[in-house]
Amino acid sequence: MIVEQPLSYPPKTGPIHLPKDGRPADVQVLNLVKTFDKIEAVKGISFNISKGEIFGLLGPNGAGKSTTINMMCGYLEPTSGDTIIDGLSVTREPMKVKRIIGVVPQEIALYKDLSSVENLEFFGEIYGLSRQERRTRAEEVLHFVGLYDRRKEPINNFSGGMQRRINMAIAMLHRPNFLLMDEPTAGVDPQSRENIFDTIEQLRDQGTTILYTTHYMEEAERL
Ligand SMILES: Nc1ncnc2c1ncn2[C@@H]1O[C@H](COP(=O)(O)OP(=O)(O)OP(=O)(O)O)[C@@H](O)[C@H]1O
Ligand SMILES: [Mg+2]
Repeated sequence: MIVEQPLSYPPKTGPIHLPKDGRPADVQVLNLVKTFDKIEAVKGISFNISKGEIFGLLGPNGAGKSTTINMMCGYLEPTSGDTIIDGLSVTREPMKVKRIIGVVPQEIALYKDLSSVENLEFFGEIYGLSRQERRTRAEEVLHFVGLYDRRKEPINNFSGGMQRRINMAIAMLHRPNFLLMDEPTAGVDPQSRENIFDTIEQLRDQGTTILYTTHYMEEAERL
């Protein structure tokens, strides 16, 4: 049986002006190592991402992708090594770094009883956006991910793929210069997957450096 439920995604919107200063970040990952007890989750990884580049991190389950992303954005302290984003050290200046990056975590991180607008309002406040900015940005990003019409429904009503899109909307709320996405296409249908890649390309074209992780070789090669 085929169930068809067309979604208006991606919407026909203009640029959403990312980032605020129109300047993508450059990123250097310097020999990151993470050991959990005896497990060496990340064994010394180094790479550079140029300004405005889309960088795919490819690997099977347990390869250390999430651990790497979590160290790169300051959620997890590395055993050794560091990441430099726009000249800022993640280990030494985590608060400054958080202002210029956006993160889409692997697990959905939303308040499920609240609506999209309420979630965006909450995270906007954490990012330090003014009330006016929060309102304007929430509308812009909801249009961008194609869920503006359903903005007042609780997240509980949304499918997994829709929840992922709201997670993306939250990550781009404060116009980051560098966006990190942990498996943005996991559990997403092929049509929406294409749309997510279109979105990623649009964000790049508007001046954002992007890192994403995937299990699929063809996804890593696509961008
Ligand atoms: N908090 C933790 N405590 C102990 N071990 C951990 C912890 N987090 C991750 N690991 C281990 O580190 C290794 C890498 O895990 P990680 O989540 O980074 O992989 P991944 O590449 O993101 O995998 P997946 O594709 O399944 O998301 C795994 O062996 C995992 O068990
Ligand atoms: Mg992972």
